[in-house]
Amino acid sequence: MCGIVGYIGKKEALPLLLKGLRRLEYRGYDSAGVALIENGSIGSYKKQGKVGDLEKVLQGQKVSSSIGIGHTRWATHGEPNDVNAHPHVSNNGNLAIIHNGIIENYGSLKEDLISKGFEFSSDTDTEVLINFIEYIQSSDNLTLEDALRVALSQVVGAYAIAIISKDTPNKLVAARKGSPMVLGLGKGEFFLASDATPIIEYTNEVIYLKDEEILVIEDGNYHIKDSQDIPQTPHIHTLELELEAIEKGGHEHFMHKEIFGQPESIADCMRGRLNKEKGELTLGGIRNYAKALENADRIIILACGTSWHAGLVAEYVFEDLCRIPVEVEYASEFRYRNPVIKEGDIVIAISQSGETADTLAAIELAKSRGAIVLGVVNTVGSSISRVSHEGAYLHAGPEIGVASTKAFTAQLTVLYMIALRAARNKGTIAENRFQQLLRELSLIPSKVEKALLSNDKIEEISEMFKNASNFLYLGRGYNFPVALEGALKLKEISYIHAEGYPAAEMKHGPIALIDENMPVVVIATRDSSYDKIVSNIQEVKARKGVVIAVVSEKDALIPKMADFTIEVPATHESLMPLVSVIPLQLLSYHIAVMRGANVDQPRNLAKSVTVE
Ligand code: G6P
Repeated sequence: MCGIVGYIGKKEALPLLLKGLRRLEYRGYDSAGVALIENGSIGSYKKQGKVGDLEKVLQGQKVSSSIGIGHTRWATHGEPNDVNAHPHVSNNGNLAIIHNGIIENYGSLKEDLISKGFEFSSDTDTEVLINFIEYIQSSDNLTLEDALRVALSQVVGAYAIAIISKDTPNKLVAARKGSPMVLGLGKGEFFLASDATPIIEYTNEVIYLKDEEILVIEDGNYHIKDSQDIPQTPHIHTLELELEAIEKGGHEHFMHKEIFGQPESIADCMRGRLNKEKGELTLGGIRNYAKALENADRIIILACGTSWHAGLVAEYVFEDLCRIPVEVEYASEFRYRNPVIKEGDIVIAISQSGETADTLAAIELAKSRGAIVLGVVNTVGSSISRVSHEGAYLHAGPEIGVASTKAFTAQLTVLYMIALRAARNKGTIAENRFQQLLRELSLIPSKVEKALLSNDKIEEISEMFKNASNFLYLGRGYNFPVALEGALKLKEISYIHAEGYPAAEMKHGPIALIDENMPVVVIATRDSSYDKIVSNIQEVKARKGVVIAVVSEKDALIPKMADFTIEVPATHESLMPLVSVIPLQLLSYHIAVMRGANVDQPRNLAKSVTVE
């Protein structure tokens, strides 16, 4: 969480920094700030709230500089207010810093600095770090980069930081460990950012800084060294991302664009991999470890949030098609247990951002015990994609709305392709069934397109339930994780309490909640649990619950029982989550819009959770 940007070159830095911060707002939006070197001193401007609030503060101010840093915050230490906003300036007014991450030993460092006469105005770990660097620099008379290296050797935690100093107005220094940082190489100018989205409109040549590297940009040149001061030769990547992909393109919200973009993003995800004519599946990213996957005794899926829900669907798919036992773990729980992992176990790590701190840490733990890690990641070049042994990208394009939608369906698509290919190679699926599922998968984009046609009806239903205080979501089999995902979507963006449950478990608790005020969304598409879920709907109706059912088209039975029905096209039950989740995404979207909530940037959340 937190987005950071930096610029050094010949242009006016401020507009570039503000534009960059807007692109990174999905990473946090509790406060925003910039610091620039103006006429030999540091000008720092910061404000609680969004980048728009900061822009108001800056309106009418004459700020001119060609070097600066900026930050958009997701609060960890200290409440979101103006004082705790970044940048933070050191006591002597010489240094300014922006930071994404957490300095874990900031408490002891702070006490030590206070005993040396330092004063602190904020509650942040970041203010401690910049004063610690100032202290080392001034007591040992070091260059900024040397002081930074010494300081970081004594720091415990995660960081992506950028620092400017009024004494060296042509220099920008940065470092990372555990939090992402990308350097964009322009012509005589350099851009720093948490991801490539603020950079892409200026240059497509980027370097992903590695953990514990320190970057110095000075007088039109840059160099990167490791924590031992040894020069590194970085790899320059050429980005293929297009600017259009990260703009709203006429939609009112990114979430709307992303929901309606799913026919295309799912197709993109299959492009070059699924060949319907030849009846073939290729996944170039998983080549060396394909056999290891097929022969694995078990698979462990690690993920958080929506990605974890995709993992739950994958569990059913892998077990059914590949006959390999699967465990799906919250990365945050897994990393603090003492999990049993043996050499050759396969870990599939699922992450949209590729930066989720808990997932990264869980991967490291699994790797240290001999597991083979396959990453299923959207963001190209992200940390998880780099630490995985192999993997398959989603190719869904950037997802900006904080609530994940198109990444979920792309995750399901990629996981399905991995499972289907492994099953065929392993011989656990008959060829005709393989071909049938492959064909069915190839039809998903058009079926999603059809499911989106229910939008108007869902908008009407949303109008009726926008003031509900609670929702229950029920599903069975492959649709159980969809129920969890539907409930999560609603909670995230509309702030209505919602619970997802396996429909049969309802009678062990949630049934007590059902009355005429409780909308119950039942995902009841035609599959092997159909008769059972029909009984569950009757149980809800018998207690006067209001049922909104997602059904397969032409279902004649459920519309007679449910209060509202939303039809989705039929497909094989193992592929149904790709289609049945669509109405739930739309329902949460419309309810949130009607309640006046900030759909793309819901309160307290962030898209990329780089703290544990
Ligand atoms: C945050 C986001 C969710 C996401 C989760 C996991 O909570 O708001 O949308 O599902 O993190 O993120 P990842 O990037 O690892 O998929």
